[in-house]
Amino acid sequence: MDWGMKNRLNKIIKPDTGRTVMLAVDHGYFMGPTTGLEQLDKMVLPLLPYADTLMLTRGALRYYIPPETDVPIVLRVSGGTSILNENLLHEGIVASMEDAIRLNVAGVAFSILVGAEFERDTILAFTEIIDEAMTFGIPTIAVTAVGKDMVRDARYMSLASRMAAELGASIVKTYYVEGFEKVVDTCPVPIVIAGGKKQPEPDALEMAFNAIQAGAIGVDMGRNIFQSEDPVAMIQAVKAVVHQDFSPDEAYDLFKEKMGGE
Ligand code: R5P
Repeated sequence: MDWGMKNRLNKIIKPDTGRTVMLAVDHGYFMGPTTGLEQLDKMVLPLLPYADTLMLTRGALRYYIPPETDVPIVLRVSGGTSILNENLLHEGIVASMEDAIRLNVAGVAFSILVGAEFERDTILAFTEIIDEAMTFGIPTIAVTAVGKDMVRDARYMSLASRMAAELGASIVKTYYVEGFEKVVDTCPVPIVIAGGKKQPEPDALEMAFNAIQAGAIGVDMGRNIFQSEDPVAMIQAVKAVVHQDFSPDEAYDLFKEKMGGE
């Protein structure tokens, strides 16, 4: 592996623990002003000291995040459909590699929808992105999106994750499901989990804990952090689960301790 690719991967996955807390705030690319991100900078800037990586769109990066910010960026480069479209997540390439380089990103993220009618479109566009990204030593994060009517189980997540890895992804982002060890064991590249819809804080911390114990190397979490009663306290609790193997109870105690500021 080339030095640039290795260096960027080490920016995303922290070398001291081999894990990562990616803060996902890219929701606007298909959901518009998502609850909690209406004024994206006001929400995100106080969270950055605790995030290992920030995942967002090029517009959000340019409009809301100051270039002085010292956080590795994972740029979402897929999109094309909105939450109003019944073919949600029928995505193609929405940002060039040239622009990703201009923005000095550590990685790019692209959603594939395995099992959907249009899976081929998303997979072929994804491999185009991989080829371009590899030319410049940029890691690719495959987001294994799941359609509304599709079953979220270990069998499906293993299929989508293994496909993403074999197609050339550097990291796979998927959803935590029961039997997650199978997903991790059959995927040759590191796996992070998305948070999904907002849950009560103890449940989200337990999900993160279970994923890490099953072998995930981290989280790419959005709503369960920025829609929390106290986002700054929540990201610290998630970070303790990911990097320090805090149990869900210990992490929830930390959340309560950090609530309302130091
Ligand atoms: C969806 O594809 C977006 O990439 C989100 O970034 C991702 O789902 C993670 O955010 P959340 O934890 O809110 O699900």
